[in-house]
Amino acid sequence: MKTRITELFGIEHPIIQGGMHFVGLAEMASAVSNAGGLGIITGLTQGTPEKLAAEIARCQQMTDKPFGVNVTFLPSVTPPDYPGLMQTIIDSGIKVVETAGNNPAEWLPMLKAADIKVIHKCTSVRHSLKAQKIGCDAVSVDGFECGGHPGEDDVTNYILLPRAADELDIPFVASGGQADARSLVASLALGAEGMNMGTRFIATKEAPVHENVKQALVAASELDTRLVMRSLRNTERVLMNPGVERLMEKEKALGDALKFEDIVEEVAGIYPKIMVDGEMEAGAWSCGMVAGLIYDIPSVDELISRIMSEADAIINDRLRGFAA
Ligand SMILES: Cc1cc2nc3c(=O)[nH]c(=O)nc-3n(C[C@H](O)[C@H](O)[C@H](O)COP(=O)(O)O)c2cc1C
Repeated sequence: MKTRITELFGIEHPIIQGGMHFVGLAEMASAVSNAGGLGIITGLTQGTPEKLAAEIARCQQMTDKPFGVNVTFLPSVTPPDYPGLMQTIIDSGIKVVETAGNNPAEWLPMLKAADIKVIHKCTSVRHSLKAQKIGCDAVSVDGFECGGHPGEDDVTNYILLPRAADELDIPFVASGGQADARSLVASLALGAEGMNMGTRFIATKEAPVHENVKQALVAASELDTRLVMRSLRNTERVLMNPGVERLMEKEKALGDALKFEDIVEEVAGIYPKIMVDGEMEAGAWSCGMVAGLIYDIPSVDELISRIMSEADAIINDRLRGFAA
């Protein structure tokens, strides 16, 4: 399959693995890139320029295919060393950066000067247009279904993707709720030129997370995610568990008076507990509704090969079969 996304990033299949905290390590990114997609290392999981440089070097040992680095801009009391992280990305020879969370305009001149392609994750058409205007090469359009931060507009991909197609000139991938060949073909039909998957990639053999996380995704249905932190305008879609239930009780009790400090126990430092220790009741961790479409734990290569061969069958057999 050849699209503007495969051409832009020099990849075989139009499938991207979005940055994921404590999941987007070298094992994950290299497995996706080796299978012909675009793997992405999550910059903030490493935290410091030195650790990020080491993780990129580790990934370069594991694949000779292109892979990217995600840089997420989050409100933070002690912000990470963004200039140092960006310089490390450039010095390491990375050619793709996925930005998310806030407008990346400040960083584009240095990334562009280093010939790095930038794909910005957006949850709305207006942010996508802004990304295009400031010079991003592509956008990842993240619908309300997505795991992680869906923004505050609550527009699902059935509307968001064709709206993006109507407005954008730069290519975009569909993100949020993407799981299989049906997702890919539907996204292409709606105007995207590829898809970005988060949650689905966690339930793979190579994902460097505790087995409990993978089993939780296979067990979960499409009804098992919840939106938290809405009153803080930092909405996150997470997998339901007793820690999340506690968080939601606090939200209900405190209403608009809720402050971040009230829920620190349920949202801060949760990722290592979940992803490393497999403590599935610890608290809020991002998970998409797409969990309902996850039935197995294949290797990344099996997953991507299956998507591409079934997409071919959908396009050439099923859809062609409808011709009158
Ligand atoms: C466990 C997890 C952690 C995530 N961490 C990040 C992150 O650190 N930065 C980011 O930009 N997106 C993050 N995301 C969002 C994904 O990159 C992707 O946009 C999203 O998962 C797409 O929706 P899906 O889960 O329905 O495929 C995360 C998602 C998950 C499931």
